[in-house]
Amino acid sequence: MEIIVCGELFTCKFLFWFMTCAKVHSGDLLDLCPERVENYEGKLKNFFTEHIHADEEIRYCLEGSGYFDVRDDDDRWIRIWIKEGDMIVLPAGIYHRFTLDKGNYVKLMRLFIGEPVWTCYNRPQEDHPARAGYVKNFVDGNKQQGVALQAH
Ligand SMILES: [Fe+2]
Repeated sequence: MEIIVCGELFTCKFLFWFMTCAKVHSGDLLDLCPERVENYEGKLKNFFTEHIHADEEIRYCLEGSGYFDVRDDDDRWIRIWIKEGDMIVLPAGIYHRFTLDKGNYVKLMRLFIGEPVWTCYNRPQEDHPARAGYVKNFVDGNKQQGVALQAH
């Protein structure tokens, strides 16, 4: 599995710009450590279960670090390392999961465009409208244009 390190591309200024321009309406915090999270082991297990959302999952890392895993066009995992100051936007319908790294701690802000919805739909979800939209726009669209997302 390939590991991509998110660079320090995003700063607080960017976050402010993003929240304003993307019309982010709300956000909440996930402070993922055993002392602060009820049912810590269960939450970790849920985060690591492959799933999709009906909306984008937008996360800004305030402290700590962890891995978001996403699938490439050939259904192979790509591991993305997110750490303090990084932001990640997962399109609606993309299969993904999350886990901690060796630091064993992360504080993530989730940003919502519109009403906050937390629902996870575990794989398989091929008939879910968000999954169908993702495949149409990103997977099939990339193949038609000859641009493929690949793990190396
Ligand atoms: Fe998710």
